[in-house]
Amino acid sequence: MPTEPDLPPHVSENRRYWDERAADWVAAGERAWAQPEPSWGIWGVPEPELGMLPASMAGMRAVELGCGTAYVSGWMARRGARVTAIDNSEQQLATARRLAAQHGVELELVHGDAERTPFESGAFDFAISEYGAAIWCDPYAWVPEAHRLLAPGGRLVFLGHHPLAAVCSPADGGPLVERLVNPYFDLHVQDWTTVEVDPGGVEFNLPLSKWFALFREVGFEVEDYREPRPASPTAGERFAQPAAWAYRFPGEQVWKLRKR
Ligand SMILES: C[S@@+](CC[C@H](N)C(=O)[O-])C[C@H]1O[C@@H](n2cnc3c(N)ncnc32)[C@H](O)[C@@H]1O
Repeated sequence: MPTEPDLPPHVSENRRYWDERAADWVAAGERAWAQPEPSWGIWGVPEPELGMLPASMAGMRAVELGCGTAYVSGWMARRGARVTAIDNSEQQLATARRLAAQHGVELELVHGDAERTPFESGAFDFAISEYGAAIWCDPYAWVPEAHRLLAPGGRLVFLGHHPLAAVCSPADGGPLVERLVNPYFDLHVQDWTTVEVDPGGVEFNLPLSKWFALFREVGFEVEDYREPRPASPTAGERFAQPAAWAYRFPGEQVWKLRKR
């Protein structure tokens, strides 16, 4: 893959991919910005079920890592937070800037890599990622970076694919299967750049024991772990996850962490 100087190859490849695909995410961004209340992940699980955000964020300094169209940042700003958001794609940020202005929400939107941010240590009380750094960045780089950005006692909350989904993802990029097709203990890089079905970028995941070990080594305590699921097994198929699969097996995970 052709790379940009000074960027790790996967960050460069994901920048190219997201700049190219940003137009496909405008409509979903517009819908999410217009929602009165947050809902999360592939299945739109309502905020009261998952509790991703503090009820009031008045006076909090929050950062979103891999913000895309930045609707999560918009939700946090409406709860009173002062929000900074970083994304690797200028094209995604262009949509974010337009929608923030349209909704009268003030955000600091920064173009950059969530694995190596330009922000000061301890600058934030709350960090979040919904399918941003959570899946597109190497956990061994972005989790320590998120820890650095937080003040002591600060919280990191993120949502992405469940490791079981990674194990059940067929090599051609097609929908999840009810078979274990990838080695669980080797989970780390998932390269979708050359698959037959809907080629994508480079994603990451880890076995649960390695997520736990990483959090312990970096200095996070685990406060909660959730496995969101669709409301019904007949909710269709989204992003290669059939609802019938995700209703029976965990397709997504949420980690809620606190900096020691
Ligand atoms: C699916 S969007 C996440 C935003 C939103 N929550 C959503 O689900 O649409 C994924 C975003 O992650 C961003 N991203 C990928 N790699 C990144 C990196 N290294 N640093 C910051 N953002 C990154 C992409 O540019 C893209 O905008």
